[in-house]
Amino acid sequence: MTAEPPEHPRSVEQLREAAGSCHGCDLWEHATQTVFGEGRERSRLMLVGEQPGDQEDLQGRPFVGPAGRLLEKALDQAGIDRGQVYVTNAVKHFRWTRRGKRRLHEKPNAGQVRACRPWLEAEIEVVKPGVIVLLGATAAQSVMGPAFRVSKDRGRFMSSSFGVPVEATVHPSSILRATDDESREAALAAFISDLRVAARGG
Ligand code: URA
Repeated sequence: MTAEPPEHPRSVEQLREAAGSCHGCDLWEHATQTVFGEGRERSRLMLVGEQPGDQEDLQGRPFVGPAGRLLEKALDQAGIDRGQVYVTNAVKHFRWTRRGKRRLHEKPNAGQVRACRPWLEAEIEVVKPGVIVLLGATAAQSVMGPAFRVSKDRGRFMSSSFGVPVEATVHPSSILRATDDESREAALAAFISDLRVAARGG
């Protein structure tokens, strides 16, 4: 069954329920569940990540694994209360590949990102954020198009087809992947600075 968002969505709850049975691409087959966005409706800030990871897939909530902990720390240092923002992903099912006993993250492909975009559009329609923060290339390209480069345009407001200003920045996982403490600290500081820009602009 291919669930689609209702034409005039009323609430995030309604969307979450509908997305629970979405077979709009093949990712549902190997994922535990749909991981829909969460947070306050009418949040001033919406954060969009790539896709749920292993922990998110198991718990059914976005950004609750290692990247989520880093995001929460960065939000806190930027003076933003996670309880006051809406957090979601460009793709709502976990894409993974097996390596021994582990399920390794695999980047969603362009077709999967496209298939999931109507859910993101519907979330934006319901939440009506003042600013959308795009975390990493997948989220940024889902919203701004495939030619968009985070490295070139991070940290500043741009207009989007949603009529809502967006700001792109890195994905928190990229900070976790830093190879030494010094570059990790620098990457985290730059990320926090981007979040502060978003908080001021909403
Ligand atoms: N990475 C994401 O992009 N989203 C999550 O929810 C978790 C990790």
